Amino acid sequence: MKLDLLLTLAIVLFSPQVFADDLDSGNGTRWSAPALVGGKSWSDAFAKASALVANMTLEEKVNMTTGDNGRCVGNLAGVPRLGIERFCLEDGPVGVRPIHGVSQFPAGLAAAATWDEDLIYKRSLHMGQEFYDQGVHIALAPVTGGPLGRAPRWYADPYATGVASYLSVKGLQDSGVAATAKHFIGYEQETFRNPYNPLTSNVPFPPTLMIRLHTRSTCGPLLKAFELELRIYNEINQTQACHNAYTQNHLLKRELAFQGSIISDWGGQHDNVAAAHGGMDMSMPGHGFLGLLGVMWGDALVDLVRNGTIPEERVTDMVTRILTPWAWLGQDEKKLPDVVFNTNGPLFPNATDVYRDVRKKETADVIRKIGAHGATLLKNSGVLPLQNPQRIAVLGNDAVDNVLGVNACGGTAADCPSDNLNGTMSMGGGSGYAYAPYIVTPLDALKKRAIDTGAEISAITLNTGIDNVTAQQSPFQLPTPAQAFLPATDVTLVFLHAWASESYDRPSIELDDHMNELVETAVKYSSNVVVVMHIPGVANIERWVDNENVTAVVAAWYPGQESGNGLVDVLYGDINPSGKLPFTWAKSYDDYAPGTIVEDPAQAPQANFSEGIFVDYRWFDAHDITPRYEFGFGLSYTTFNYSDIVIDESAAHADKVAIQETAEPFLESDGSNSLYDVLFTVSAAVTNTGNVTGSEVAQLYLSIPEGDQPPKVLRGFDKVKNLAAGESATATFELRRKDLSVWDVVNQQWHIPEGKFVIHVGASSRNLPLSATWSKSP
Ligand SMILES: *[C@@H]1O[C@H](CO)[C@@H](O)[C@H](O)[C@H]1NC(C)=O
Ligand SMILES: *[C@@H]1O[C@H](CO)[C@@H](O)[C@H](O)[C@H]1NC(C)=O
Ligand SMILES: *[C@@H]1O[C@H](CO)[C@@H](O)[C@H](O)[C@H]1NC(C)=O
Ligand SMILES: *[C@@H]1O[C@H](CO)[C@@H](O)[C@H](O)[C@H]1NC(C)=O
Ligand SMILES: *[C@@H]1O[C@H](CO)[C@@H](O)[C@H](O)[C@H]1NC(C)=O
Ligand SMILES: *[C@@H]1O[C@H](CO)[C@@H](O)[C@H](O)[C@H]1NC(C)=O
Ligand SMILES: *[C@@H]1O[C@H](CO)[C@@H](O)[C@H](O)[C@H]1NC(C)=O
Ligand SMILES: *[C@@H]1O[C@H](CO)[C@@H](O)[C@H](O)[C@H]1NC(C)=O
Ligand SMILES: *[C@@H]1O[C@H](CO)[C@@H](O)[C@H](O)[C@H]1NC(C)=O
Ligand SMILES: *[C@@H]1O[C@H](CO)[C@@H](O)[C@H](O)[C@H]1NC(C)=O
Ligand SMILES: *[C@@H]1O[C@H](CO)[C@@H](O)[C@H](O)[C@H]1NC(C)=O
Ligand SMILES: *[C@@H]1O[C@H](CO)[C@@H](O)[C@H](O)[C@H]1NC(C)=O
Repeated sequence: MKLDLLLTLAIVLFSPQVFADDLDSGNGTRWSAPALVGGKSWSDAFAKASALVANMTLEEKVNMTTGDNGRCVGNLAGVPRLGIERFCLEDGPVGVRPIHGVSQFPAGLAAAATWDEDLIYKRSLHMGQEFYDQGVHIALAPVTGGPLGRAPRWYADPYATGVASYLSVKGLQDSGVAATAKHFIGYEQETFRNPYNPLTSNVPFPPTLMIRLHTRSTCGPLLKAFELELRIYNEINQTQACHNAYTQNHLLKRELAFQGSIISDWGGQHDNVAAAHGGMDMSMPGHGFLGLLGVMWGDALVDLVRNGTIPEERVTDMVTRILTPWAWLGQDEKKLPDVVFNTNGPLFPNATDVYRDVRKKETADVIRKIGAHGATLLKNSGVLPLQNPQRIAVLGNDAVDNVLGVNACGGTAADCPSDNLNGTMSMGGGSGYAYAPYIVTPLDALKKRAIDTGAEISAITLNTGIDNVTAQQSPFQLPTPAQAFLPATDVTLVFLHAWASESYDRPSIELDDHMNELVETAVKYSSNVVVVMHIPGVANIERWVDNENVTAVVAAWYPGQESGNGLVDVLYGDINPSGKLPFTWAKSYDDYAPGTIVEDPAQAPQANFSEGIFVDYRWFDAHDITPRYEFGFGLSYTTFNYSDIVIDESAAHADKVAIQETAEPFLESDGSNSLYDVLFTVSAAVTNTGNVTGSEVAQLYLSIPEGDQPPKVLRGFDKVKNLAAGESATATFELRRKDLSVWDVVNQQWHIPEGKFVIHVGASSRNLPLSATWSKSP
């Protein structure tokens, strides 16, 4: 695994004493806002930006920090006098939203399940091309450290998230677009995320979530400083997250030496002064959105500087942080294409909205590949890959298009219309949606394959009533649709889904309406039932997963526009499945740490993060709970054997690739070494012991010799690809000082504990055949 430019998320452990009194307002005392210094590889861009900013009037600077009305989701007025054009900011993490002429990419979870660094990078690179060609300066993507996955409905490991975030940021930047690593900290639930919804709520004191960060809390993401923009919401310990000086000024800007800007999430800023002192750099939507989300900064910020409340240097720093990445990306010299869309029609009625298609052919292929390589095979009694079945039944509305069009769920509304056959779920809803130009549904792709292979195929696309007895009561004793079809098929493919959207947390981990009944009908008549699920995370499948007639189960996640194509590649074995779970799949919701989604409608509901560092598999391991499928699990059509674990300390080398050093304190510091130096590598042989070519995600977990640590933590993964039957390859993992360190809450620094580290390598968090030990040299 090459982490040449490193952006990593890890767990920080805080001491409560330090934390409790460290949350001042940031107004010049303890956690004041650090000024940008330019960073290691940004010096030219920083110099350019600084020279420009030096020539700006206060009003011009404020114009570059405050959202304006305009065509985009976020707009900055620019400074035409100095050649700075208007800035366009646009959602979102699965494609340019909400406009047409772009692609709908797979959800981050589908990309995560590939554990494939190349595909994760390409997803962002191709998405970045579409942002760029639509004239977007700052993409409001990717989702990185928030949510980190403390609630069982998300992605769940800080190390893997760090690697994926780094690749996703890099992909966008390599396309010339600034990335937004969202959301910075504490963003772990939707319920009560934002009390500020004047469009729907007249509640006088709507609840605001309060996040209590405390001892050994999980919510300190460590971002090695990088050209990111950050969005912040929520309240952290009674200050709005985007006003919080400790997390923004101290953790992010000082310890991590972050050189980019911090952007408020839309509606997240509630105070002009606190936000400026607290380290926020860009107010969105500022005075845009016709003030519907409040009117922040702008003229008020000018006044606050003039009357001495906010020092002008703070505003200078804000603008420099915004213009440095702009110069670094070359957006200052090579003008982006004009923005011709208008995403704010009703709010900004005077601008035309012109359709412009910027899709490239090869992008659809990347989307299809992520769908195929992310599909996670959970159960297979041998039926898959399909051996050209002659008679195929397809069940479920999830196999076909939404009756109201491909964008009826999520695209035109956050939710799905209630009296509607929602169709296949390629994506969730809210700002995380992107319009699909088309969706290749599972039935489209299966039908094409059936025709090619000379098979018969028939689909029942209602979820209910397919074994309806009324027909049988007719004088002719006609069979129900289920009876008519299923007994004679070679295989019955059942399609299920669960919907998720911004604005609320999933109400439960159940599949959507009547989906379980559909499987129960299928297994009554067919002894070869293959279940495919389009889901945003775990689902409760306990009612039927052990049924002998359920012969295979595939989690296909939210795969984007090429849904059916990628799936059929896997079902027919053109691509051997290699996806693995990026979270723990429990048997019951109650098996996860309790209280991770706070639903108490008190005026200030509190999320206490009381599970501490025991998130996801760490919780299951520590409490000895058997999940349905463990973190890192996924089947293949072949088998792999692990052997020959080797620790190589001679491979130690200094961190040669950071573009920005952090200032995180650590015990072993000698002034010239880094937390990100590689101390040793671990390698292991992976052998394909089956009969077909396949790829395997080898995983490394560490047991750290210090009390009260989780039994093991992921510290490396390496996907060895396309091993032919009988072939071996070497999986290699680099262990950095940081990977071996824990946070010392007394001395407030990282350190490597004394004692024996056990290094485990294998196929999942609970299938680790190899181990070796390592101890810190004196
Ligand atoms: C959060 O802040 C409050 C008010 O400053 C303080 O009393 C409390 O101890 C803090 N909580 C934690 C867990 O640090
Ligand atoms: C800074 O904020 C604190 C409250 O957090 C307040 O008591 C103090 O007066 C403020 N200082 C200045 C200089 O505004
Ligand atoms: C700033 O203004 C000075 C004096 O007017 C001018 O010489 C210089 O080129 C300007 N620099 C930039 C970056 O606009
Ligand atoms: C600030 O931006 C507005 C557009 O919102 C523009 O009308 C105004 O002239 C700008 N002010 C300065 C000082 O550039
Ligand atoms: C400074 O200006 C702001 C914004 O106009 C105003 O709310 C505040 O009261 C002023 N403060 C002082 C000390 O004049
Ligand atoms: C749109 O144009 C009309 C007529 O020129 C003008 O009155 C109105 O203020 C404009 N609306 C916006 C939001 O700019
Ligand atoms: C479509 O989705 C909505 C929720 O978004 C749900 O209320 C409705 O029941 C679904 N329709 C069907 C037929 O499942
Ligand atoms: C059978 O189908 C009919 C027509 O769709 C419906 O009215 C009836 O309620 C169904 N009966 C059962 C038992 O599902
Ligand atoms: C499995 O399917 C057969 C029909 O093929 C049926 O007779 C049998 O009852 C089913 N078994 C279960 C456990 O549902
Ligand atoms: C969080 O902690 C506070 C203070 O101890 C307590 O009042 C509250 O009930 C806790 N909330 C939850 C959801 O446990
Ligand atoms: C499988 O791995 C074990 C060690 O984990 C080794 O002893 C055995 O020889 C390997 N078998 C093959 C076929 O590679
Ligand atoms: C490989 O093929 C042989 C011969 O067809 C078969 O006996 C064996 O079970 C297969 N092994 C696997 C792992 O599929």
